[in-house]
Amino acid sequence: MFPEVIERLKQHFCVLSNQADETWSSERLVENLQGKSGLFSTGGERVDASLLAACPDLKICSTMAVGYNNFDIDAMTAAGVLATNAPDVLTETTADFGFALLMATARRVTESEHFLRAGMWTRWSYDLFVGSDIHGSTLGIIGMGRIGQGIARRGAFGFGMRVLYHNRSRLDAATEASCKATYVSKQELLGAADHVVLVIPYSDASRHTIGAAELALMKPTATLINIARGGIVDDTALALALSERRIAAAGLDVFEGEPQVLPGLLKLSNVVLTPHIASATIPTRLAMANLAADNLIGFLVKGKPLTALNPSVLGPR
Ligand code: GLV
Repeated sequence: MFPEVIERLKQHFCVLSNQADETWSSERLVENLQGKSGLFSTGGERVDASLLAACPDLKICSTMAVGYNNFDIDAMTAAGVLATNAPDVLTETTADFGFALLMATARRVTESEHFLRAGMWTRWSYDLFVGSDIHGSTLGIIGMGRIGQGIARRGAFGFGMRVLYHNRSRLDAATEASCKATYVSKQELLGAADHVVLVIPYSDASRHTIGAAELALMKPTATLINIARGGIVDDTALALALSERRIAAAGLDVFEGEPQVLPGLLKLSNVVLTPHIASATIPTRLAMANLAADNLIGFLVKGKPLTALNPSVLGPR
């Protein structure tokens, strides 16, 4: 964690921080949370009923991520423990990366670089690493929250793309117009898009939003980009579809069971793989960490968190 963020927290709290480059086991986490009022999570720590039962002093768990599927919000609410996340501060950086991954995938940037570095480039040819166009193509976005809208704006205004989206609920007309995006069913989107980008939160309901049946609806020339969460895509079904060239390529920043990656994906040349770095710029990571710290200070010192996920625990109990 940024030393300046730890220093900020130390002005208000007695801080135990894990600055070693190793993940605490759940037993060690529980042990270290004894007597602690707050948890600062970088996103991986699982907070569920059993952890809460074992850590009775805990009042708030603050994650520096926008996604909070590591928190069991119902269990936290039942235990009267506040959950906070870090929305907004990472929106544009993450949308930038979604676009970077889309372009690298469609234009075969990493695959061709590996070829060059391996000394395999001996001549130019008209069809060397031909990819698919981004400008003027159809972009399909599943999950039209803040980040999805950022990707839509980049596609529509930067690259002249036709933008289709699918979301749990349709956006209002002004927001649709601000991203030049058209609401369609998931099936229609999958059948029409040249590039499909996933930006939905993970939950039991969104697990395997893209599986074998959905991949079968996509064009054989299409690309699939996942910057949402591992588990939104059935990685095994995707590896099979990519190996059989039933879709052209995929770009994945998140994986089922990460940091492990399905060996079948590692073997394929038509997939770009990055280690969950969509929000990784220094200013954005610092803003995320500071917001997580602000939530801890806001709640434990002033009684007012900034971005509560279960604000009902703030009311009279
Ligand atoms: C990163 O994946 C986040 O949810 O912030």
